[in-house]
Order: sequence, then C-alpha cells, then structure tokens
Amino acid sequence: MRKVALGVSSSISIYKACEVIRLFQSEGLGVRVIMTEKATRFIQPYLFTSLTGERTIVELFDDQQRPIEHISLVDEISLLLIAPATANIIGKLASGVADDFLSTFYLAAKCPVLVAPAMNEAMFLHPQTQENIRKLKALGVEFVEPDTGYLACGKKGPGRLASPETIVHHGLRLIKSREPFRDKVFLVTAGPTREFLDPVRFVSNPSSGKMGYELAREAWQLGAEVILVSGPTGLEAPAGVYLEKVNTAEEMREAVRKHYSRADVVLMAAAVADFRFKKTLSDKARKTEIGQTLEIEPTPDILEELGRQKQRQLLVGFAAETGRLGERAAEKMKKKKVDLMVGNDVSGPGVGFASDENEVTLFWPDGRSRKIPRMSKRKISQEIMAEIEVLLNERKGKS
Ligand SMILES: Cc1cc2nc3c(=O)[nH]c(=O)nc-3n(C[C@H](O)[C@H](O)[C@H](O)COP(=O)(O)O)c2cc1C
Repeated sequence: MRKVALGVSSSISIYKACEVIRLFQSEGLGVRVIMTEKATRFIQPYLFTSLTGERTIVELFDDQQRPIEHISLVDEISLLLIAPATANIIGKLASGVADDFLSTFYLAAKCPVLVAPAMNEAMFLHPQTQENIRKLKALGVEFVEPDTGYLACGKKGPGRLASPETIVHHGLRLIKSREPFRDKVFLVTAGPTREFLDPVRFVSNPSSGKMGYELAREAWQLGAEVILVSGPTGLEAPAGVYLEKVNTAEEMREAVRKHYSRADVVLMAAAVADFRFKKTLSDKARKTEIGQTLEIEPTPDILEELGRQKQRQLLVGFAAETGRLGERAAEKMKKKKVDLMVGNDVSGPGVGFASDENEVTLFWPDGRSRKIPRMSKRKISQEIMAEIEVLLNERKGKS
C-alpha cells in the first residue's frame, strides 16, 4: 500500500487534517502523521494514531520509535504533505532549519513535497512569508494556495487552509501522475445542454455532469492538462482543471471546436440535447402562443463532426441507451470514428443520469467489449482511464 507522510503544524485549522487523512484512506492510501511539538497543544497525537492505525511521530529523539526513523521512513512514502503549514514551518523549510522531526524529515525526503499554508492574512502576505514560499517553489516544492475568506482571527483575506478535497486532489496528482498522461491535453465535455424556446423555457435532460467531472478529475490527477466544457450543473470543477461553461448544444460545439486542435484525448461525456426549437424567441412567449411555436430541428452531432475532422486525437464517445446497447453503441462508433465507446443502459434503477453509480460496457472498433459492473462513477472513470492508457501506449509503440 502506498503511503503519505502528513506533517501537521500548529494552526487553528488543524482539525481539517482529520478529513485529509480520511480522504487519502478512501483512495486506498496509508497515512503516517508527523506533528510539530506545538501542534500537540491543539490536538493529542492519539487522535491521529487512532485514525491512521500508526503511531503518530512527534519527537526526533524517541525511545519508542525505530532508530533514525527520519531516514528509514523516507523509503516508505510516496508524498510528504504538510497541511496545515504554519508560517513558522514554511520559514524553517525555506531556510534549511532542521530542529524537530518534521523539518529534519523534509531534508531527508526524496519524494514530492506539497505544502498547504494556513495563517492570518497579514502573516501570509508578509514579504518574508512570500519570499519563503518563492524559495521553496524554486526548489520544486508544490503549494496548494490558501482560500480567501473569513479567518479564525475574524479578518477576511487570503490564508484560510484550502479544502481537504482540494489538498488531497493535488496530493493525488503528485502520487499518480505518470506517462502517458503527462504533457497530454484532455478535452472533456459534461452535463446536459439547454435548448431555449424563450428566455425562461428550455428543453434539457436529467444529466448531472458527474461522470464527466469525475473523468476530468481523474485525468488531471494522472498528470494531464484538462479542459472541461460543461453544460449547466451544480458541480464545482476540480482544482487545476480549466472550465468553460456553456448552455446550448451550439455553444458546446463552438467550445469543443475551439480546443479540438490542441487535444490529444477527447471524452464526450456530455448529454447533448438531440433537438432544439427552430426559433428561439427573444421575449417570453404567452402560454396561448406556445402551441404554435413548437417547431423543432436536430442539434448538431458534435461527436460525428469531431470524427470527421479527426487527426491524431483519441476519441472516446458515450452512448446512453435504453435497450439494444451493444448494437447501438457499435453503430455509433463506426459512424463517428470513435476509438472507444462507453455505453450505458440508463433504464436500470440507480445507475446512469444523476446517480453516483453507473454500470457501463466498453466497446472497441475491433468488436471487443468489456462490461464494468456497477460501481461509483469515480471508480468507473479510473477504469476508463486505464483503458485510455493502453490505447495511448499502443499508439506510442506504433509511432
Ligand atoms: C490559537 C492559535 C492559533 C494559531 N494559528 C496559526 C495559524 O493558523 N497559522 C500560523 O502560521 N500560525 C498560527 N499560530 C502560531 C503558531 O502556533 C506559532 O507560530 C508556532 O510557533 C508554530 O510552530 P510549529 O510551526 O512548530 O507548529 C497560532 C497560534 C495560536 C496560539
């Protein structure tokens, strides 16, 4: 099992470290906590020991730990994350001071280092702190920028510890990032589109965007640059991902076209509406007029257009069907020059649209298929990325 060393220093936001541990564990990673001595004034080490199942380290000189543990632990970990990081620990790391376990361990660590600062805004904006951060960045240390908002001291400004989700998302990229995803541009579409009749009425579908957002998150963690073109959803884009919001199928088509030439992999997970109103009214239609204005026409088939213009791009399509999945997915794949088709039968209960889980079948142009049983959309996105990795490696082998 891969392991993260989590350094915890004495910030008031220390309680968020518990959630950071839980999120890493839910990704199958072990966590070993190292606290500064002052952090133990806020929280007893035993809390972290209970959460992680491993004794929390505080002291550099400790009869109960392995001799020279600050060196032996180095080989066990894939990431050193310091969250929350005080101005003090950042200053010590930047100047090479090694006067406790955490700062000594930083100098010995060979893995990537990620720091999540948390402090009062004056402390964060102080030129000394900023200089320390610059110095560490120049040495290859990565930072999760703090949020701006109300701080524990009652002031408003930058310095609030980033959310545990954002911190873990960055950490996972440092652990998981690898060839062939690095230096690749992934273009992902997500969510529904809205086709307006007038300013207050539209047709759409129940797509929540969850599948596309999970794919974007996963691709970023694997090291790719990710552009997410999203229809209206209630979701927050994963940190690091470039988000372009659209409403209609036409807007989605324009956004996708704009980024297509840069893309290496395109994942069309959006549920684009199949039809739109021939005429969109600029003023709200009166109820009695509506029956006369409901003339419809098909929306552009974006995937088919991309298939026609395809150069080096790897094209992944999504087909939501209610029956005859294999037949319909194969048909679409051929017509649209798709390299991998993800088919899902949205008629089943608890899967597909708006659900956290899905059950899909992958289809390849050579007739192969693979059923992925019901699991979370996060896990499904990992399975899809594993297949994309195979396809990218095959291409690399051929070139
Ligand atoms: C209630 C309280 C809250 C504090 N919160 C922070 C904080 O959020 N960020 C920070 O840099 N220092 C904070 N400090 C100051 C640090 O605890 C202090 O600089 C300490 O020496 C840092 O030691 P360490 O980096 O070894 O944990 C706080 C102090 C107190 C008493």
